[in-house]
Amino acid sequence: MNAVPTTPTPRAAAHARQRCIVPGCEHSFDINDRIYVCTKCGGPLEIDIDLRSISKPAELRSVWRERALSSEARDKSGVWRHRELLPFAADAQVVTLFEGNTPLYDAPRSAEYASLDVLRLKHQGCNPTASFKDTGMTAAVTQARLLGAETVVCASTGNTAASLAAYAARAGMQCAILLPFGQVSAAKLAQSMDYGAAIREIDGNFDDCMRLIQELASEPSIYVANSINPFRIEGQKTVAFEILEQYGWRVPDHVVVPGGNLGNSSALGKGFGEMKRLGLIDKLPKISVVQAEGAAPLAHLFSSSASKGEQIQFVHHPNTLATAIKIGSPVSWKKALRAVLESGGEVLSVTETELADAKAIIGRDGIGCEPASAATLAGIKKLVAAGKIKKNETVVAVLTGHVLKDPDYVSNYHRGTLAIEMHEAGKPARREAIHGKFPNLPVRVAADKKSIVESLKRG
Ligand code: F0G
Repeated sequence: MNAVPTTPTPRAAAHARQRCIVPGCEHSFDINDRIYVCTKCGGPLEIDIDLRSISKPAELRSVWRERALSSEARDKSGVWRHRELLPFAADAQVVTLFEGNTPLYDAPRSAEYASLDVLRLKHQGCNPTASFKDTGMTAAVTQARLLGAETVVCASTGNTAASLAAYAARAGMQCAILLPFGQVSAAKLAQSMDYGAAIREIDGNFDDCMRLIQELASEPSIYVANSINPFRIEGQKTVAFEILEQYGWRVPDHVVVPGGNLGNSSALGKGFGEMKRLGLIDKLPKISVVQAEGAAPLAHLFSSSASKGEQIQFVHHPNTLATAIKIGSPVSWKKALRAVLESGGEVLSVTETELADAKAIIGRDGIGCEPASAATLAGIKKLVAAGKIKKNETVVAVLTGHVLKDPDYVSNYHRGTLAIEMHEAGKPARREAIHGKFPNLPVRVAADKKSIVESLKRG
């Protein structure tokens, strides 16, 4: 067993506060106030870590690296081994499933598809419940337990729910999840059932579930674990630290993420921002967000001149087969937009076909991701074509979920049966087929050697 390295400067939770991000308000609250938005102006909150409490930032690199070799529970977590920058006391009892420490893969076929020299995929689907949500949930459920909450709740398109259900089970807490009825993949729903969550299916979409969660937040026994909760973002920001560690502390030129409720892009912005303020890096990677065309409120705002005035138009009937990001009213859009603008990134949307084909290409690299994750590669291809990403720049795509999260989608794509239901006002719903360019159909052959060999010759 390796000795656990000492912290360069032990930091108590007293060095962190919750702060409103709205310029001009910026009201600050105690770290343990159970609030999710600014009680002065209603703006989003984030956690303000007093970075001056870290007197020797350069030592963090070796401390974090050495902890990865330790067998202490917190050190085995890719989140908690970065604990100097988390808003918890040094001796906090954490709820962990050993999340994080996910692989950064080289993806030559995906790179070629996007006309890049090199592309790397940071696979957050390799987390305990197979999505990036676990890195945030370990922090949120730890805080819920510290606050003595009885029930943790969330609205979800499936992954947040599965993750919260698992961490709540580890913590021995009650978990209640609100899901849009009929719009969550069977695999994700099955996970939540298995982890023992109270599942409530709502007649409505994700945005309706999110609205109800905000109403439920006033119940004293309830703790909300959606990404409006700033503790979620604290856990999720550690993926930025991991990416830098995996790049030997060189800063990639671009980091590209799919966008739904827009917590993940916010978290990446915060993580890289803290590294820069600590002087561990000298520039920010450009953070770009890719949305599905039918659920792209931030991309619309970004492409219109209105982005200066920051007036987002929510999408009332979001529609995409990438159900994880079927969201029309993203709660964290202000934080995400700030992360994109500060870093010089882009926000764009991709079509259902672009997304589906990109997913199949990632698969050909031997890396399985869920549909939403593939928005990254589809977006990168467009950004390269538009000259916004140069062929020889370093690019990381963050894959947010595992391929087994939505096997029906994958099977339908390869069998040529993928279709989306389109709804236009005043017209009957119609099904639009997605004609993928890279299908891979199982072939039925007779049960003899010759037939198999013959069929393989035909390719
Ligand atoms: N990719 C996957 C696989 C997701 O599950 C989500 C969000 C996103 C991308 C978008 O991330 O919301 O931080 O912008 N899923 C949420 C859920 C909404 O309920 O599981 P975001």
